[in-house]
Amino acid sequence: MTDAATALTFFFLIFFKVPPKSFTVIKMFLIFLFAPLTLVIAENVLPSDFIRCRQKDNKLNECLTGAVPDALRRMKEGIPALKVPALEPLLVSGMDIDSGSGPVVISQNYRRIKLHGLTDSILTTYKADLKHYRLRTESITPKMEFIADYVMKGRILVLPIQGKGVANITMVNLIVKHDLIGEPIKKDGETYMHIKDYKVKFIPEKVSLQFSNLFNGDKRLGDQMNLFLNENSELVFNELKDSYEKSLSSVFQDVTNKIFDKVPMNKIFPEE
Ligand SMILES: *[C@@H]1O[C@H](CO)[C@@H](O)[C@H](O)[C@H]1NC(C)=O
Repeated sequence: MTDAATALTFFFLIFFKVPPKSFTVIKMFLIFLFAPLTLVIAENVLPSDFIRCRQKDNKLNECLTGAVPDALRRMKEGIPALKVPALEPLLVSGMDIDSGSGPVVISQNYRRIKLHGLTDSILTTYKADLKHYRLRTESITPKMEFIADYVMKGRILVLPIQGKGVANITMVNLIVKHDLIGEPIKKDGETYMHIKDYKVKFIPEKVSLQFSNLFNGDKRLGDQMNLFLNENSELVFNELKDSYEKSLSSVFQDVTNKIFDKVPMNKIFPEE
């Protein structure tokens, strides 16, 4: 970039017969003029250390099963050029859940959510159908911690529950089924694979829940409730699962599209 600007500056100096002392000024001007252009070019590629899987590879699914977790680990700190946020932890601004009828009726608001552990995920299967812009994969995350400020109010079975503090919802050996439905978007002669729908299903082996400061900080009641929640964690989690899945699928969709909307499909999955 700077080299190109230097060359162009010389061209200006000679062509327009500008006094040489304007060199720096013209060069700065040219750098400003062309900076947006270089940014666009830089944004169009995946980081070079990412493993590429070729579209025509007979073992495309096998390749992706290795490449995707590898990319996740390289994205721990995000990719600034693509505005991909850091994934370790992944920050989510908020999530509001209103669980309706049934045994668990709780309204919950989570703020400043931090998800830890996503980048330790491994993929067990990958099914890429690039002709139809469809990706399906199953991952296992050994330990996913969901830490957030919470406010909640409601009841579980016959017990009222209410509190405002810090929540820790930890899922152990979490199987996540991802179903990404994409569509081709043509832009400047390139095809981008935009993900229009991202579905996830969570199947944790074990869930533990810990809510600090329940019942306005009444320690005895709070401890009892946390004990009760963990003894019934399957019931509690199943009631809230849909909302967690919906919120997190839109987070995963955003992160994926940060890359897929900016990097042409044939640069993510090379054709040859
Ligand atoms: C959240 O809970 C898990 C399981 O009980 C625990 O291992 C972890 O240290 C907790 N994390 C925080 C930040 O408190």
